[in-house]
Amino acid sequence: MSTPQKTSAALDYFQTNFEKYIQELKHLVSIPSVSFTGFDQKKVAECGKEVQKLFSKIGLENIQSFVSEHPDRPYIYGDWLNAPGQSTVLLYGHYDVQPPGSLEKWKSSPFDLSEREGRLFARGSADDKGGLIANLAAIDSLLKSTGALPVNVKVLVEGEEECGSDGLDAFIAKNKKLIQADAIVITDADNYDEKTPGLTVSLRGLISMSIEVKALKQPVHSGLLGGPLPDAAMALAKILATLVDDSGEINIPEIKKMVQPLSDEDRKKISTLPFREDKFRQEAGVLEHTKLRCQNHEILESLWFRPSFSVNCMQASSQTQAGNIIVSSAWARIGLRTVPNIETEKAFALIKNHIEKQNIFGFKVEINDVSLGNWWKTKTDHPAFKQMEQALEKGWNQPPVKIGCGGSIPFVQTFSEALGGAPALLIGVCDPSTYAHSENESMSLEVWKNCVKSLIHFLSSFEKK
Ligand code: BES
Ligand code: ZN
Repeated sequence: MSTPQKTSAALDYFQTNFEKYIQELKHLVSIPSVSFTGFDQKKVAECGKEVQKLFSKIGLENIQSFVSEHPDRPYIYGDWLNAPGQSTVLLYGHYDVQPPGSLEKWKSSPFDLSEREGRLFARGSADDKGGLIANLAAIDSLLKSTGALPVNVKVLVEGEEECGSDGLDAFIAKNKKLIQADAIVITDADNYDEKTPGLTVSLRGLISMSIEVKALKQPVHSGLLGGPLPDAAMALAKILATLVDDSGEINIPEIKKMVQPLSDEDRKKISTLPFREDKFRQEAGVLEHTKLRCQNHEILESLWFRPSFSVNCMQASSQTQAGNIIVSSAWARIGLRTVPNIETEKAFALIKNHIEKQNIFGFKVEINDVSLGNWWKTKTDHPAFKQMEQALEKGWNQPPVKIGCGGSIPFVQTFSEALGGAPALLIGVCDPSTYAHSENESMSLEVWKNCVKSLIHFLSSFEKK
């Protein structure tokens, strides 16, 4: 068979058999592999085991499970290296997921894949169990239909991406040789919209930290004792309010100074993308009276190339127990999305210092880092980018757009460096209606199929002719 015949056989196989991969996805999402502390980590390990079984089912070899600090969040590796003289592609995905959020807001159970109007709903359906199954489906379709792969592949699936990839540096240090490849394909990113594939060329980083203000030994009656006692929740609110100015702009000058101004070239590229503010508002679920902090194409600049603070959670008491009390302590988790050239460690120290020097009511404030991940921005002159663009165009019947992404994948920068600057190609199965990390996360079946087809085309085109 010629290469085009093999590609076409694999595409046919996929078209006829895609339902079996959806069943595999259904099985994986049924395991609540939330990697956050406080959730059953045995479920993460169980999901890793199931991924390992899928690896062997599709014919990957040399399958190994690597554990580092967290024994229940293994990195699963498998390869197929029977194409001597050919290039090697490393495919990445992750099997851990975010917590489900409020169960009552889900229209169907978060851990039961349910199809509605062409979309598959479940936690991790798109981020990233759908992505990792897409990688496996492309490999399986090629292997089952032609008996071989056009290139060598290495597949790596991570179990701790959503909580900051703690064990990544140790994993890489130990396994540098094992993971060597000519290109990395990361199926964990976004598409421009449901009809237009995206090739992500930049990611924001994330500095995630917790802040705790402690004041009393226990909560007390706000009438009997209110007045002389300082209020920890008030102090926390004051601290958080100092992080941004009145327009919501980050208020730490040393961090602002590190931000690389957007180049004319990047601004021009962004301005040519089709973008509608009303569509963006609708997809982001913005209420009618809420004003955005910027308009039109500046929204994309802000999402992709400007830092942004968010308060992920504030806790002092709970809504159901909000009696007339003065709380004893208040806690918050905050995150700063970073961009070129913010230095992660330095920025963390600057935020910590900024908070400590507020000295509100003389409170002692405890600050801890939750996770620190770098931003990433790539050049696109390596021929692999063109090959991926062509593969996406074939898979989707629509040329891709190069996009930035406001989200973070800490793995990318570290990995690409470890592989001596190998091109990292970020594609994915998310689209603007996915609502990754939120309730009712979903993946469009059409987008997923287009992604698998693109992967089949890419693996076929990466072959040395
Ligand atoms: N896959 C997501 C990032 C993403 C989501 C890209 C939607 C494109 C569209 C990734 O798994 C993620 O959520 N990462 C975390 C990383 C963090 C814990 C360091 C994030 O961005 O919050
Ligand atoms: Zn992800």
